[in-house]
This record gives sequence, structure tokens and C-alpha cells, in this order.
Amino acid sequence: MAQIIAFSGKGGTGKTTLAGLTIRYIIERTGRLVLGVDADSNSCLNLAVGVDVHATIGSIRETALETIRLGNRPGGLTTEEIFDYQIKQTIVEASGFDLLVMGRPEGQGCYCAANNIIRKYTDKLADDYSFVVIDNEAGMEHLSRRTSSAVDIMFTVSDATVKGIKTAKRIDDLIKELSLQTGKRFLIINRVKGPDDAAQLKAYAAELGLSVAGVIPDDKTVFDTDLNGRPVAEIPKDAPSLKSYYAILDDVLKTLIASAT
Ligand SMILES: Nc1ncnc2c1ncn2[C@@H]1O[C@H](COP(=O)(O)OP(=O)(O)OP(=O)(O)O)[C@@H](O)[C@H]1O
Ligand SMILES: [Mg+2]
Repeated sequence: MAQIIAFSGKGGTGKTTLAGLTIRYIIERTGRLVLGVDADSNSCLNLAVGVDVHATIGSIRETALETIRLGNRPGGLTTEEIFDYQIKQTIVEASGFDLLVMGRPEGQGCYCAANNIIRKYTDKLADDYSFVVIDNEAGMEHLSRRTSSAVDIMFTVSDATVKGIKTAKRIDDLIKELSLQTGKRFLIINRVKGPDDAAQLKAYAAELGLSVAGVIPDDKTVFDTDLNGRPVAEIPKDAPSLKSYYAILDDVLKTLIASAT
């Protein structure tokens, strides 16, 4: 059974960047196979990890349903088996990791359906990987739709503002309230401008009862990498943001990595 790490937080805080860096970190540190799950309908985790996506759950769902509707069940397969097969076809195999993308549902398909499918398959596929890293869409709606089912570590990412931390607190409260099966919850404060801001924001988050995993500096290298359409794999090892984030992961993922099978 995989160790599942998920990211939530308001829009533009750095979820996708950090999810991509987490995949990179796990591959570098453990060499084990990671499943990346892009549970954001505006999918872009593939860009962060530098792979092309040819199909998504959203895009194949209608075709799969049509096959079933028309009674074209090859070899007398069950509906479930057809779906399993088609979903597996959408998984992109890259170097050290695979990627499953929710995408946008086509036709009449609603987001809840694609969401349900991604949750179910994240659970189903978890047996085939040592780690699963889920990049969620912004905000809180996906939590109530339960995109992320059982999660070992949930990182909520905040920008470096008091308002951002208040939003992160609301997200954290909702996760607790919905009793999502979450092992540990941590806050990451991203794009911090300097040590004074870091100290102040950390103190504020702690006052709200949030468990702060650490802060990551605002780093032009990260921004430019994204701006130039380059994957996070190209962020240099000595970039301040990467060093800070890897130090956070060294600490937070220690036990998960030690117990990974
Ligand atoms: N530490 C950092 N320093 C500088 N820029 C950063 C940092 N972290 C993220 N960024 C930049 O912030 C922008 C938003 O990042 P990202 O796409 O990862 O956020 P997101 O939370 O996934 O957004 P969305 O909610 O739209 O999915 C990107 O341009 C990214 O390069
Ligand atoms: Mg994103």
C-alpha cells in the first residue's frame, strides 16, 4: 500500500510546484516508483513534471460509457473491467513515476463523476506504487467532494500573507470537520520574502493552532522555470527554495520513507 501525500490550498499558492518537487524528491531519495495524481480539472501537474498527456479520465469517460451503452463489451467484460482497462490506458509512464490526470469531463459528464473516478482509482492503484502524490485543485470544494480519500500527509500551502494563513486555517478546519482520513496535516508557507516575515507568519499560524512544516522563500528561479515552461526537475539543487523544501521533506517524510514497501 502506497504512502499518500496530498496538497491543498487556495489558488496560486504553489501546490502544483510543490507536488512536482515532491515527486522529484522521492525519486531522488528512494528510487521508488511514484504515482502522481493530477486531481485538478485545470490540469498542469504534467507541465511541472515535464510530460505530455494524451488522455485524461475526463476525456475517456464518455467513450467508455458509450462503449458500454452500445453493448460493445469485448470478450464479455464487465462494465468495471472496461473502465479499469480504459483508465489504465490514460496513465502516462515517465522516468521514475507515472501520472494519472483527471482533466475536464467531456459531454454531459459532471465534475463529481470524474472526481469519484479519480478517488476510486487512486485507492485502487495505491497497491502498485510506493508513493502517491496528489495535486488537488484550489479551494475547499474538492474536499467536500472527497477527491482525496485516505491520505497519510496533507500539506496545505499558503502564500506569505496573514489572509492566506487564515484561509489555510479554514481549509485545515474543514479537513478535520469532514473527518477525512488524514494521517498528519501540515502547513507550508510559500514565497516568503525574508526572515522577519517568516518569523511573524509562523508565529501567527502557530497561534491559530496550525502545525507549520516550514517556510519556503520566494525564489525567482522557481518563477522563471515555470514562466519558461520548464519542469521543476530543472530547478537547480542549490536554489534557496529547493533547499528549504527538501529540508522540510527530510523532516516530514522521514518516517513515511522508512516504512515504505
Ligand atoms: N517559492 C516560490 N518562489 C517563486 N515563485 C513560486 C514559488 N512557488 C511557486 N511559485 C510560482 O507561483 C505560481 C503559482 O504556482 P503553482 O502553479 O504551483 O500554484 P498552484 O497552487 O498549483 O496554483 P493553482 O491553484 O492555480 O493550481 C507559479 O508561477 C510558480 O512558478
Ligand atoms: Mg495547481
